[in-house]
Amino acid sequence: MTDRYAVIGNPIAHSKSPQIHAVFARLTFQDMRYEAILAPPEGFKPAVRAFIAGGGRGMNVTVPFKLEACALADTRSPRAEAAKAVNTLIFSPAGIHGDNTDGLGMVADLTRNLGVPLAGRRVLLLGAGGAARGVMLPLLAERPAALTLANRTADKAQRLLAEFSPRADGCAMEAGGFGGLAGRQFDLIINATAASLADEAPPLPDGLYAPDSLAYDMVYGRETPFMAAAREQGAARTADGLGMLVEQAAESFFLWRGVRPPTASVLELLRGA
Ligand code: ATR
Repeated sequence: MTDRYAVIGNPIAHSKSPQIHAVFARLTFQDMRYEAILAPPEGFKPAVRAFIAGGGRGMNVTVPFKLEACALADTRSPRAEAAKAVNTLIFSPAGIHGDNTDGLGMVADLTRNLGVPLAGRRVLLLGAGGAARGVMLPLLAERPAALTLANRTADKAQRLLAEFSPRADGCAMEAGGFGGLAGRQFDLIINATAASLADEAPPLPDGLYAPDSLAYDMVYGRETPFMAAAREQGAARTADGLGMLVEQAAESFFLWRGVRPPTASVLELLRGA
């Protein structure tokens, strides 16, 4: 019988996940089907239960259900615990297992697709919401020299710092508002704020980009105001989050199927479309 998987969210029509996983399945000869499920805002749990009852093997979870998915899981990976959010559910007779592949996906995109090693680098992470929290553990695991957290609301960044500094493992961590960044330079600046969704750029001081630096926006599909501002400010390169989307999908696929799908051709396909 063909194994069933799905992405669940609200809205969901725009999701590229069904297309990505269909190509992964074809490239790795997996007998599986992957669909998109729109759940009503109050209807996440029943929709998951119905999918399991219908033979579902696993799900990706997207906005706004990642926190609910975390609560629903019977067991969780350490990175899902740290993220306090789940984007991947695995169903088995033993129950529901929750994992989070967002951070791994971003790190894979940065290091493998973009060829930017994080070890020893000065990294600035903008934002202190769910998107920022979700990538903290995999980012620290790469052992950057320094990780600076900056947020519009400074004390939210400070709280995130307090939570993750016990896991800094030699990385110099600090946190504050945007204004406090003046005079500093970074090799990599990651935009994990929701500013791009409002077509805005986080209000950063001038001169933050070191020579050879990369500006990375987790939002995908277009050049964001953050990317445009970074270019003006002398960032050597900019990237959107399409590679992160494909790589987090590949990590989920691996968790479900035990097979690592190739990602480069899928990324090319999506960029072309
Ligand atoms: P997500 O799960 O996408 O991270 P969130 O938890 O609501 O969503 O967090 C949104 C983040 O984007 C926050 O860090 C928010 O800053 P505040 O904590 O000060 O609210 C940030 N953000 C949203 N709009 C922004 C803007 N226009 N400029 C800068 N930061 C913005």
